Amino acid sequence: MKSDFLVKLIRFKLICALCVKIKIIIKLNTKMEIIRTENIEKIYDDNGVPVHAVRGVSITIEKGEFMAIAGPSGSGKTTLLNLIGALDNPTKGKVFLEKEDLALKSRNELSQIRLNKIGFVFQAYNLIPVLTALENIEFKMMLLGIPEKDRREKAFTIMEELGIGELADKIPGEMSGGQQQRVAVARSIVNNPPIVLADEPTANLDSATAHTLIDLMEKMCTEKKITFVFSSHDKQVLEHAKRVLILKDGKIEQ
Ligand SMILES: Nc1ncnc2c1ncn2[C@@H]1O[C@H](COP(=O)(O)OP(=O)(O)O)[C@@H](O)[C@H]1O
Ligand SMILES: [Mg+2]
Repeated sequence: MKSDFLVKLIRFKLICALCVKIKIIIKLNTKMEIIRTENIEKIYDDNGVPVHAVRGVSITIEKGEFMAIAGPSGSGKTTLLNLIGALDNPTKGKVFLEKEDLALKSRNELSQIRLNKIGFVFQAYNLIPVLTALENIEFKMMLLGIPEKDRREKAFTIMEELGIGELADKIPGEMSGGQQQRVAVARSIVNNPPIVLADEPTANLDSATAHTLIDLMEKMCTEKKITFVFSSHDKQVLEHAKRVLILKDGKIEQ
């Protein structure tokens, strides 16, 4: 009787272990959507003249992707990144972040999403000129209410990881473009957001510095499993991307 029960118990445990394994395998093989746009359009009003910056873009970005949006100047790259990053609303269509419809979020919820879930890197670095590199990196964590000791420690750690520890006390005016952009990348990832959007992050850098920066972003994508979406029209920079979407006149070309 007793051994019968034991056999059943062992069998049950084996089945449970098998189910967990299958679940893990399924999870590993299933691509997880992080961003999806559904036929989004953006029409700006330029003094009464409508400007169609994005015309019906439907894309899905998977968790952990290292992907690029390419296209000539004026093709809609910045507009598309702003729509994906909840910095602007589409005129038509929907944007889903982690399967949640951004149109259903309040202003307050959207600002929390921008703070917690999205890191931004801009072409012109956009560091606060009067703050040191360390303070710039800490700034977002200050807005999130993270205590000073913790945020300082996190900022130092990420600077060390990115090899820019020696810049901690420098203000933006004392740094080169490449150094400022590395600080901007550190700032974008310091609170481990699931996604970083970088709008032409290498446009102001020479080609060697541009490669170093993209390598750094790729390393962070792999190591920290952060999804990176960056825009560029530099062929060499685009070669680093695992997937490139080409925009032309506000539409995806391929
Ligand atoms: N705030 C705005 N008001 C009016 N037109 C705009 C505005 N922002 C961008 N545009 C126009 O939208 C189009 C796409 O711009 P943008 O998204 O900046 O492209 P890209 O980043 O590829 O250079 C361009 O024609 C641009 O002039
Ligand atoms: Mg742009």
